[in-house]
Amino acid sequence: MSAEQYAWWQRGVVYQIYPRSFQDASGDGVGDLVGIIDRLDHLVWLGVDAVWLSPIFLSPWEDGGYDISDYTAVDPLFGTVADAEALISAAHERELRVILDLVPNHTSHLHPWFVASRSDRDDPRRDWYVWRDPAPDGGPPNNWRSATDTGRPGSAWVHDDVTGQYFLATFSTVQPDLNWANPEVRTAIHDVVRFWLDRGVDGLRIDMVGFLGKDPEFLDEPPPADPSTHDYFVDSRHHLNRPENLEHLRELREVVDAYPERVLIGEMLYHAPVDLLVSYVTDAGIDLPTNFSLITLPLEPERLAAHIDAYDAALIAAGGWPNYCVGNHDMPRISAHGPERARLALTLLLTLRGTPFVYYGDEIGMSNVEVPPDRRDDRWAVPQHQMTRDSVRTPMQWDDGPNAGFCPPQVEPWLPIADDHTQVNVATEAADDGSHLHLVRRLLALRRAQPALAIGGYRRLVDAPRGCIAYVREHGGRCLTVALNFGDDHVVVDVDAADAAASTSPARVVVETVAGCARVDGGTVHLRPRSGAVLERA
Ligand code: GLC
Repeated sequence: MSAEQYAWWQRGVVYQIYPRSFQDASGDGVGDLVGIIDRLDHLVWLGVDAVWLSPIFLSPWEDGGYDISDYTAVDPLFGTVADAEALISAAHERELRVILDLVPNHTSHLHPWFVASRSDRDDPRRDWYVWRDPAPDGGPPNNWRSATDTGRPGSAWVHDDVTGQYFLATFSTVQPDLNWANPEVRTAIHDVVRFWLDRGVDGLRIDMVGFLGKDPEFLDEPPPADPSTHDYFVDSRHHLNRPENLEHLRELREVVDAYPERVLIGEMLYHAPVDLLVSYVTDAGIDLPTNFSLITLPLEPERLAAHIDAYDAALIAAGGWPNYCVGNHDMPRISAHGPERARLALTLLLTLRGTPFVYYGDEIGMSNVEVPPDRRDDRWAVPQHQMTRDSVRTPMQWDDGPNAGFCPPQVEPWLPIADDHTQVNVATEAADDGSHLHLVRRLLALRRAQPALAIGGYRRLVDAPRGCIAYVREHGGRCLTVALNFGDDHVVVDVDAADAAASTSPARVVVETVAGCARVDGGTVHLRPRSGAVLERA
């Protein structure tokens, strides 16, 4: 297949923006939509193809905007629907696509739908949420568990004193689950989707995509078969991963398919097995079920290689398309691995077969910022990773001036600016050819120029030395070799071994993670510790 036959979201690279932290244009210390418009040229210069905005909708901000109280209103912190329309057109003028976050599993407890639902057992909106009577002992209706344990250890149910029933709130107590079994709810969300697609949005990232459908009988989850490897959400049979869920998503897909070329990205579980990821492609019409393996696995080449081989093969065999990310608004930034390994991880991300997601600030190596308790905003400790997610949501660092160019000097930004912003910022790094930023930009340019990287085949060099992952990407007779040495030793990688064109011309280095780290010698490349390179034939 030629490159043009692939969808834009297969060829392209998605850049995730946490809107509160990208650029403040209004001068209140909070990022906004006009600020994003002002910075679109950075994204064009960088070379990405699409932006995904974390939620921009009306919210009481009890879960960083993922608690929505009106799906078709823009939060005044960010601007208006007209600003969103202006952003979409400004992006399209620059050939950038725009993806919005859809949070369909739950609303804020302050959404008028829930306020009505909670007001009376007979309210017409009662059945828009999941209400059940208490168990005979007065406790929660079943043993379903919550994703955050704050305030109600274990249970996903919250008792409502006014009407004497429990409502289901799988994430937090202030985010009641919508009742997707009710066709009125499905229609209401379809209308929300049409509202945004009508405004030119190019796709949606669906939050907690596996959770919408619930067991209509509300059966207890069975006891774990093996407690030592048990993961409640992966193993769940009644609370999520339901056949009803796939049906709901197929319906949503039909709504989206009335609009050409739109992408659906589904937020999957962090430890989702590959067959679950595949089933969301084949059975639910999700284009990109998120694959978090480069975040959850240790950066050890042997572990990574085993995963990538199996994942890539399974997705391709199923007619799907892989995707990777090394960071997002919920997980520690990749820079925690140190600058050299972070560069390797970004190179891996941008040279594998599959759509890469780049988290804002990772292109300059932003750090996980220590946010003092009195400045914290994120209140939900997610049991798997006890951390404040504020650390990865701090303002983008544009320059070395006051407030890093994010907001005016006299204004206090909503979260503190990292101390390292005097060196780690876009302006300083743009002036330094050896910077993190230029590495990312070079890789993006190469991916754009070389179909082998964007859509080419993936074949791993199984004989790469210990500590090293190496693979070939090829398309239409063109072949690029990627060799990444995560180890602490100097290694020599045989790059001729797997390349049919090897005898005709010698390989040359086209990108290296650190200037001078790679040296070609005959059919081999020598790599310094914690460094890597992309090679091609002339
Ligand atoms: C998703 C979001 C996360 C949010 C949660 C509940 O996991 O990525 O930020 O807190 O859903 O909506």
